[in-house]
Amino acid sequence: MRFSVVLVASLALVVVSACEQTCMDGVTHAWLSNYTTPVTDVLTAVANQISANILRPESRPSEPLALLQPIINAYDDQSFSALETAIFPSFFHGKCQQDGVDPPGCPNPDCPVVCGTPGSLVHFYGKLRYIAYNQTRHMLENLSKPGSTTYKQVEKMVLQHASKSRRVPGSAQRYMRRDILSTFDTSSVGELTSLTTRSTDAETTLKSIMSQVGSMLEKACGGSGDGNSNGLPDCSWEGEMKAFILSYP
Ligand SMILES: *[C@@H]1O[C@H](CO)[C@@H](O)[C@H](O)[C@H]1NC(C)=O
Ligand SMILES: *[C@@H]1O[C@H](CO)[C@@H](O)[C@H](O)[C@H]1NC(C)=O
Ligand SMILES: *[C@@H]1O[C@H](CO)[C@@H](O)[C@H](O)[C@H]1NC(C)=O
Repeated sequence: MRFSVVLVASLALVVVSACEQTCMDGVTHAWLSNYTTPVTDVLTAVANQISANILRPESRPSEPLALLQPIINAYDDQSFSALETAIFPSFFHGKCQQDGVDPPGCPNPDCPVVCGTPGSLVHFYGKLRYIAYNQTRHMLENLSKPGSTTYKQVEKMVLQHASKSRRVPGSAQRYMRRDILSTFDTSSVGELTSLTTRSTDAETTLKSIMSQVGSMLEKACGGSGDGNSNGLPDCSWEGEMKAFILSYP
């Protein structure tokens, strides 16, 4: 009862004020915080696949997610400002007024410049939900892309783990250095070839696992995983999120 009274009271106010900095920060934080679960689920699944498909049982880390630490760190560093920008002002603009004058239709949430009022965020909730999803997906894909700094760091760590299992006492150094091939006796050449093959396999497998991060997030959000997002039912949080947004004046 008390809740709906508060909701009605704030609805009456939203038409007149923009989503100011505390509101923008709060809304961004709420989305990021809700995305923690699907993002962690996806990264955990990716890490488990890497561990199971690339590493031998004896060299699998007890916490496979640690293999993705560089991605997790970069996500923690970059996600807030990237998401805030994707929402405000990339789509939702702070104030409707231009030079102190309301554009036609404003402060109605449907005004041509999409306002940044809490009311317009709620009015265009489907758009807001998609922006949060798309930004999160792009960030994960970007950080998991071969050639990116984070990908290279992960690859290095994975290959280090993979090489652990190949070490045979006394021959570890030879296995690690392909450039000293000429110093190998002929009996080592076969072993080296199989090492190189395994390392190439590891690189290919890693690339293929990492390339699925976007479609895995789509699935975690209730989409089909094949580009059909279906309203993202599991990354919507519509009721609580709308109430939260409208708690800003
Ligand atoms: C999502 O965010 C809203 C607003 O902060 C919060 O009320 C709700 O509990 C969150 N839901 C989940 C599942 O994190
Ligand atoms: C999705 O996010 C990317 C990266 O921020 C952006 O370039 C692109 O325009 C977004 N797409 C949509 C449909 O919002
Ligand atoms: C992708 O990541 C690089 C750093 O690896 C960063 O400079 C760039 O801005 C990112 N792009 C997006 C769309 O997040």
